[in-house]
Amino acid sequence: MQFAITREVSPAIARCELTHLARAPIELTRAREQHAAYVALLRDRGRTVIELPADPEAPDSVFVEDAAVVVDELAVITRPGAASRRRELAPIAHVLGRFRATLARIEAPGTLDGGDVLRFGREVLVGRTPRTNDAGVAQLRAALAPHGYTVRAVEVRGCLHLKTAVTAVGPRALLINPAWIDRRALGVSPEVELLEVDPSEPFAANTLRLDELVVVPRAFEKTRARLVARGLRCADLPADELAKAEGGLTCCSLLFTA
Ligand code: GLY
Repeated sequence: MQFAITREVSPAIARCELTHLARAPIELTRAREQHAAYVALLRDRGRTVIELPADPEAPDSVFVEDAAVVVDELAVITRPGAASRRRELAPIAHVLGRFRATLARIEAPGTLDGGDVLRFGREVLVGRTPRTNDAGVAQLRAALAPHGYTVRAVEVRGCLHLKTAVTAVGPRALLINPAWIDRRALGVSPEVELLEVDPSEPFAANTLRLDELVVVPRAFEKTRARLVARGLRCADLPADELAKAEGGLTCCSLLFTA
């Protein structure tokens, strides 16, 4: 079965961490409506959604992706780079413990945000960012390498997470914002197709791939048109309210099979 862990939007989201964005008022009702549409799409696409209740003390807790890295063989509970986000881990670990016999953990001095981890087959790219340090990358490698995964650090500049700059839109295709990630630094094999966002839509690289469907934030019509022209099946979702909290589509779920 295919599962998704999500978490309701915290009433404290206005106090979220911000790194590259200026603080703008976040309308809680609108953020919750957009999140509900996201959860509904996951259900429509056959995911069994495990929705955790909101935590009024954890402003960023809707962004569950940062709390764990889940592969078929185990789950790695992260240690987010922002100290304010570490209280988000316990309920996620509790749920994942029902599905994976092994829960590894990133320990101090390591830091790692799940948003910095992009799985692409057996290749795992990890953004080196203010949220994820070399010790975190090394610990993730130690956890995943015995299961046949190659873990490689990638430089990211100008955005919060690796997956702000690049996501997979097909089994051998990545969508990138070349302003935030260097094509060559990605180091993927030449047969991997690298598609680019429309330059006027820098945040469009964070798409959510559900089977063959690529979900794009509704505001990014030009990038969506590029993907459609390339033959990809696309859907859109409103995501601009949560985007003010510096979160994208991938941030709002942890997807895995069991
Ligand atoms: N507000 C998302 C984050 O900074 O982690």
